[in-house]
Amino acid sequence: MRDVAVIGIGITKFGELWDKSFRNLIAEAGAQAIIDSGISGSEIDALYVGSMSGGRFVGQEHLGALVADASGFSHMHIPSIRVESACASGSLAFRQGYFSVASGMNDIVVIGGVEKMTDVVGTEATNILATGLDQEWEAFFGQTFPGVYALIATKHMHDYGTTKEQLAHVAVKNHANGSLNPYAQFKREMKLESILKAPMVAYPLGMLDCSPVSDGASAIILCAADKAKKYSEKPVKIIGTGQASDTLSLHGRNHICTLESTVYAAKKAYNQAKIEPKDIDVAEVHDCFTIAEILAIEDLGFVKKGEGGKAVEDKITTLNGKIPVNPSGGLKAKGHPIGATGVAQISEIVMQLRGEADKRQVKNANIGLTHNVGASGASCVVHILEAM
Ligand code: COA
Repeated sequence: MRDVAVIGIGITKFGELWDKSFRNLIAEAGAQAIIDSGISGSEIDALYVGSMSGGRFVGQEHLGALVADASGFSHMHIPSIRVESACASGSLAFRQGYFSVASGMNDIVVIGGVEKMTDVVGTEATNILATGLDQEWEAFFGQTFPGVYALIATKHMHDYGTTKEQLAHVAVKNHANGSLNPYAQFKREMKLESILKAPMVAYPLGMLDCSPVSDGASAIILCAADKAKKYSEKPVKIIGTGQASDTLSLHGRNHICTLESTVYAAKKAYNQAKIEPKDIDVAEVHDCFTIAEILAIEDLGFVKKGEGGKAVEDKITTLNGKIPVNPSGGLKAKGHPIGATGVAQISEIVMQLRGEADKRQVKNANIGLTHNVGASGASCVVHILEAM
């Protein structure tokens, strides 16, 4: 295995993008990443694409080939591989690309993440997303994504005294960060009172505790770390990667307030990087609902189990806090085009480690972590990156 580095990133604006197709989105992000890296198209050995449900959202499968075609690479006949792990599809595509370069099989690969969710109506989007849950035990009986996270939130409130206000503080912070991010779907700050008063989706989660339905794409170029400086002045090395799985449905878990897939994926990534949670300078975590960010900071080891709500209220995760979390605005404010999310999280950390995150720049960011969860935690992928 050899070291691997990120040499280029690209990201589209996230949001309800009526004037852009699935194809347009991934081509835009891919072109940006190629320009950013300075490689020529002919140097690319393979493409990896993370996307959850093109077939249901836009009626398009065969996404590996489609992305090669949309990016203008079909004449090169390079391998193009679609990767799916529900909401963790993007990070898993990145991990597969990482392995292919680390093994020596490929020298330069492009990773893309894309989803176009707003071409279907809201109820249909909810049904499509629920395919990431357990159909037989959960979705068939009417369970939804907000529904499973509402169960987790209620149990967290019961067991640890977490309050609805503490959940809302996650949204306040992430909307404040999103207001500084030109790519974010919601570039507006939100007051605590507005979040608490938002229409209820699934108790205790109101509309403003939820990530939105979004369109968007992101792309990354990877190459062997020893060749990275040939292309990029500020390459970023991948120093840890971890992936883990768990039961698809909540009822099979030891404790629904711990996502063990996060715990195990993080452990593998920390071990490979030979670091501890306290060494992380900045993190992008999977805040698909406000409770999910609280679980993430606990399960990643930034705070003790049960203390996540208090930590957010005490502002330790703000841009100037002890461990800044979701400087991009997170899924909550930046948006959550499912397959794009994991790749966009890594793009944000690369911007932070290069010192290019402008008004949302975290000071002295040298080591960053990304955490991307599939559905209610049946899969999780964690990466740790370091400025070279
Ligand atoms: N956060 C902030 N604002 C939101 C929002 C969100 N999550 N969702 C919608 N809005 C805003 C819209 O921009 C719109 O504002 P505008 O009137 O100024 O344009 C307004 O609220 C109404 O939007 P609409 O699209 O009609 O909302 P909706 O009721 O159809 O959907 C949710 C709201 C919360 C139900 C929907 O966003 C949702 O299902 N989110 C969860 C998605 C999910 O489960 N993802 C997978 C997680 S892993």
